[in-house]
Amino acid sequence: MNKIVFFGGKGGVGKTTCSASYAVFSAKSGLKTLLVSTDPAHSTSDIFEKKIKNEITNILPNLDAIEISGEKESKIYMDNVKISLKNVVSPVIVKEINKQIDAASISPGTEEAALFDKMIEIITEKNDEYDRIIFDTAPTGHTVRLLTLPELLGAWLDTLIKKRSKSVTLMSMANHHGQTDKKDIDNDEVIKILRKRYEKINKAKKIMMEDKLLSFIFVINAEKLPIDETVKAINILEKYNVLVDGIVVNKILPENMKDDFWKSKKEQEQKYLDIIMETFKGKKIFKLPLLQEDMKSNNIENIADKFSEFN
Ligand SMILES: Nc1ncnc2c1ncn2[C@@H]1O[C@H](COP(=O)(O)OP(=O)(O)OP(=O)(O)O)[C@@H](O)[C@H]1O
Ligand SMILES: [Mg+2]
Repeated sequence: MNKIVFFGGKGGVGKTTCSASYAVFSAKSGLKTLLVSTDPAHSTSDIFEKKIKNEITNILPNLDAIEISGEKESKIYMDNVKISLKNVVSPVIVKEINKQIDAASISPGTEEAALFDKMIEIITEKNDEYDRIIFDTAPTGHTVRLLTLPELLGAWLDTLIKKRSKSVTLMSMANHHGQTDKKDIDNDEVIKILRKRYEKINKAKKIMMEDKLLSFIFVINAEKLPIDETVKAINILEKYNVLVDGIVVNKILPENMKDDFWKSKKEQEQKYLDIIMETFKGKKIFKLPLLQEDMKSNNIENIADKFSEFN
């Protein structure tokens, strides 16, 4: 199994449960593990019955966790943008720009971008410190979009840098009797900020897509909709070079049920399991039983042990 593992899937299928158990399994196998929750509901704290904040907290031996939220990160992000801009633009327009930034911080996409930046920061800065980094993600569409961002943002930033360089070159020529001073481009604050972001995104892209250190695990239930959605998501991710390694089929009903209702439910489950085996041929497929009770810190180890078959 890869070093950076993303657990994704539809709402309520068991992403938080699976990522938390897989994190416990990794830690018990002796790997220094970081569990990152990007799920706005933050149920990781509930599972471990321990308050996990937006800073790295130790949970068990070898296991640390952190909960990050788009809302909080977007506030930090916007405050940072304000500080960076202070050095770039004249004080007269700082007030006006700050007003625009406040408006932007409530516009769609901002929390997503801020969350993405924080995820990239964790991947690039913690990759050497941990043997395994596990992400519990928000429902599918959101995460798939996030993972395609490096490709899109990289190209976009490249264009911005080129455009800005062109205008700085023209300014430089005007100031140096038609000659350009390369230092003017290197010292330009806007270019510095854009280049820094470009390098960070490229580093994350290299770790995630080129070095293939990242793999995506889909959690599904043996039902029609999660299967259809996962097929679509896998197509998009593979187009963007994100490896989809496996499928966890969660909440599998017990065998030998007597009651007619549950017998027919079990037959229906088997029908979908056959479809799953056929649809996702070539990927690791792993089944997790339906537990009698919600997963909490007392039974997490049972499920964690089952992951040894998956590794
Ligand atoms: N194998 C299982 N057996 C019994 N209950 C389970 C199992 N897996 C998950 N659950 C329960 O199902 C509910 C949803 O699980 P979980 O929170 O892990 O899903 P999720 O995919 O993270 O949801 P969300 O999309 O809301 O983040 C929880 O109450 C959890 O305890
Ligand atoms: Mg969840």
